[in-house]
This record gives sequence, structure tokens and C-alpha cells, in this order.
Amino acid sequence: MAETLQWGIMGTGNIARKFAKDLLSAPNQKLVAVGSRSKESAEKFGAEFKIPPGKRHASYEALIADPDVQIVYISLPNHIHMEWSIACAHAKKHILCEKPLTVNRTQADQVLEAVKSNDVFLMEAFMYRCHPQTFKLRELIQSGTIGEVRMIHAHFSYNMGLNYKNIRMSNPMAGGGLMDVGCYPVSIARLAVGQEPIECKAVAKIGAVSRVDEQAVAALHFPTGAVAAISCGMQAAVDNTVTIYGSEGSIHLPSPWFGPAKDAKLVVKSKAGASDVKVEAGGLAPYAIEAVHAAEHIAARQAPAMPWADSIGNMNVLDALRSSIGLVFDCER
Ligand SMILES: NC(=O)c1ccc[n+]([C@@H]2O[C@H](COP(=O)([O-])OP(=O)(O)OC[C@H]3O[C@@H](n4cnc5c(N)ncnc54)[C@H](OP(=O)(O)O)[C@@H]3O)[C@@H](O)[C@H]2O)c1
Repeated sequence: MAETLQWGIMGTGNIARKFAKDLLSAPNQKLVAVGSRSKESAEKFGAEFKIPPGKRHASYEALIADPDVQIVYISLPNHIHMEWSIACAHAKKHILCEKPLTVNRTQADQVLEAVKSNDVFLMEAFMYRCHPQTFKLRELIQSGTIGEVRMIHAHFSYNMGLNYKNIRMSNPMAGGGLMDVGCYPVSIARLAVGQEPIECKAVAKIGAVSRVDEQAVAALHFPTGAVAAISCGMQAAVDNTVTIYGSEGSIHLPSPWFGPAKDAKLVVKSKAGASDVKVEAGGLAPYAIEAVHAAEHIAARQAPAMPWADSIGNMNVLDALRSSIGLVFDCER
């Protein structure tokens, strides 16, 4: 029987709640502690997700010092992912860190150095990469179903309005559409081609108040000649789909990012004709799939859904795209 992995959650915001809810239903995973900047939030979160009173920590330091915590899920704003990933590594805690892994490539290198020298697990929390739908996509591409990958259309954008209190609408917190959701299309384009792009350019509207990209489109060009068109942002709701076009067909993902537990499907057109390829998610909730995937690969220290080199590749592209629109975060100055 698989051993139970004991989780601590750092931060009590939006995604922490979704992750905690799904974790409670994940086989062999146990939520044992939470850490928050405030005792009140830790108590509220702990009560909601069945964490014992003594394990509702009023600081991130206390969470990291908890001997019962084996792996920490970091659900903090982007600008402090590096600081707390490194702190976890030094405390010999395994790490599942929210995307994007850090603010930039230089920071990602520092995190990896700490992870390697302390021999702990690290995965950037791209849930969609852990979903069976994405593994099916890899399999279809690698088996040549659509021939050579030539063009990718990938979109992730929503309309949150001009809420400047949100971490996404903040330059000091390394927000913006590219960092928040653009990292997904970038990562699926890299996955589909199986290479790193040689050219990355974006155009964007940088908000006068937010000082981040509020809507952007980007183009990637790969050594094979494949190209990707990406859209992302926080001020326009688009159809969040992906289509990968090859020399002999195409694969369309109607729901690439949240892979539903039931009825996930890829719409495949190939020489053999058109068909819907259905994917079973084993009845697990999305973030339970992610937690179980991390747990299954703890011993290897990195996971096949999003290995370290993949995170570095994604950070490189985000750096290049931000550079092309002149977007520098305050913490980089
Ligand atoms: N994988 C996904 O599907 C997904 C979805 C949404 C977001 N994310 C990622 O998850 C991270 C958090 O996003 P979120 O939507 O959960 O954000 P959020 O609702 O604003 O929560 C962030 C939490 O971080 C803590 N925090 C520490 N310093 C903070 C500061 N200076 N300002 C605000 N909060 C601070 C707070 O927890 P305490 O007060 O308890 O300390 C806060 O509740 C981001 O990196 C984002 O990219 C991933």
C-alpha cells in the first residue's frame, strides 16, 4: 500500500482553498497543516478543511518548522515564490509551488540550486499537465497522429475587471496576464513541439495603474519551423481552447486548462478521419490528480508532468516575452 504523504498549505487565498478541497478527496494524501500571515485566516482555513487547531500556524515560518509536514504547497503571490521555495528546501520540505515558478529565470535557477542541494522534490503546479487529457495529447502527438506539428493556437484569457487590489493587477507582485495565464499556452506550445522556441515576441496593453500586461498576444517560432499564436489576459474573456495543427491533421482541446473529471475529450482530425478521443480522469478532482502525481514522483525529486527543465524553459520564454513588451517588475529593478 502506498504511504500517506502529509501536506502543509502556505497561504489561504483563492487557489489554496480549491487545492485544499480537492486534497481532502485525494487517495493517500493528508492535509495536516496550514500557514498564514494571520492567525485569524489560519484558524478559518483550518476549521473549513479539517486541520487540527494546533496545526493552524500564524506564520509561514511556523508551517515550515512543523515536523509533521512533508510537502508544502506554496499558493502565494508570484513575487514571493522564490523566497518561500528556498526556505522550504532548506527546511527539507518537498515543494509543490504555484505557477509561474518564480518571477524570472534567474530566480528559478536559485530555487533549483536550493532544491538540488537539499535533495527535495519540486514541481511547478501546472495542474493541467498532470491531467490524463494532457498525457493523451502527448501520446497522440508522439505517435504521429497529426504528422509534424506546424502551428499552434492557444488561448487563456478572462475578464476580471479593473480590480487593482488583486495580486494579478500588480507590478510589485509580478502579476500580469503573461505570468498569470500566458504561462499555460506557452507551456502547451513547448510541449506540443517538444523544443524550445528561438523567437518569442509579444504585443500588449500595459495598464497605467497596474503597470502589468492586461491583454497580450504573442508569437513563438521553433527550430522545426513550427509557430504558435498565443493570447492571454485579464480584461477579455476568450474561448479558452487549444488547437494543434500538424502536416496530417489537427487536435483540438475544448477544455485544455481545467480538464474536467468527466467527459474530457480531444477532437482529432487525422488521415484516419475525424473522431473524439475521450479521456477518463479516474473520478479524481483536478487538484487531487495533481497532488497524487506529485506524491507518486517524490522519490525521483521531479515529476514527468512538469520536470525542472520544463519549468526553466517556460521561464525563459516568459522572460523573452516580457522583454519584448518592455515589462520589468519592481523586484527586478
Ligand atoms: N494552478 C491554478 O489553477 C491557479 C489558479 C489561481 C492562481 N494560481 C497561482 O496561485 C498563486 C496565488 O493566487 P491566488 O489566486 O490564490 O491569490 P490570492 O487569492 O490573492 O491568495 C494569495 C495568498 O497569498 C498570501 N499572501 C502572502 N503575501 C501576500 C501579499 N503581499 N498580498 C496578498 N496575499 C499574500 C495570502 O495568504 P495569507 O494571508 O493566508 O498569508 C493570500 O491569501 C499565484 O501564484 C497564482 O498564479 C494558480
